[in-house]
Amino acid sequence: MSTTIYYFSGTGNSLKIAKDLSDKLPDSKIIRICNENMKITSDTSSEKIGFVLPVYYRGLPRLVAEFIKTLEVNPKTYIFAVANFGSYAALIFEQIDEPLISKGTKLSANFSIAMPGNMWFMYYPHPKEDFINRINDQKSLTLTIISKINNNIITKIDTINNKISEKKMYLNFNPYDFSKGFWTNSKCTNCGICIKVCPVKNIEMLNKKPSWKQHCEQCLACIHWCPNAAIEYKNDSLNKERYHNPHIEVKELFYKNCRHNF
Ligand SMILES: Cc1cc2nc3c(=O)[nH]c(=O)nc-3n(C[C@H](O)[C@H](O)[C@H](O)COP(=O)(O)O)c2cc1C
Repeated sequence: MSTTIYYFSGTGNSLKIAKDLSDKLPDSKIIRICNENMKITSDTSSEKIGFVLPVYYRGLPRLVAEFIKTLEVNPKTYIFAVANFGSYAALIFEQIDEPLISKGTKLSANFSIAMPGNMWFMYYPHPKEDFINRINDQKSLTLTIISKINNNIITKIDTINNKISEKKMYLNFNPYDFSKGFWTNSKCTNCGICIKVCPVKNIEMLNKKPSWKQHCEQCLACIHWCPNAAIEYKNDSLNKERYHNPHIEVKELFYKNCRHNF
């Protein structure tokens, strides 16, 4: 029973969940949704397909929305999604389901895991204890999800009442404009980690300083993984603690490691 899990991750929460799922689901592999892997436009051979994703502005990261829209799947495949977020899954499952319905299939099951929120203007200051509890609870919540997936459980798609306001929020999600706000402070050592972790190769080194191009996905990997907290976004990130999942090593998110064998 082969399972392919597609994940998108900036600060490692989704990667950690994807890895834990993959460890326990038979014959499974994980594939990062990044520029390189947008070449994957069909997966009709996996018997199960999973999406492990963070919620952005109440919905799907843009790259993920494009990936799912393009992906050809076998209508008989069991397809599951695991959303993780600072507050709740909001529109994300419906946004995954819609393109699947147009392909003659649908989401078989959806699951949610609350994780530390990494977007400072939404979640900071966040009580330390809550951060730690979420990190600790993730493993057991994932085990419960694994047993449901192994039993081919079908769930109803979680929907929400306040759709109009949440859709408005999603419309405000313009990650490509985001690139304009990044800057580096004097702690930047030109180490290039930001370039390596970016899932869309949006950062280049110019005059020994990182420079952001115009196709940011707003995953915040560059800010949160910078070893010197040298990357800022406007004045919003000043003096804010950086976050990345404590069980993930930075090199696991290096772009060069996300290459899939086509
Ligand atoms: C641009 C952006 C927008 C976000 N918007 C939401 C949101 O609307 N609702 C929510 O619950 N969490 C939101 N979050 C928090 C992330 O979903 C959460 O921290 C997630 O665990 C990050 O996953 P990752 O570590 O795999 O990148 C947002 C994070 C970012 C970077």
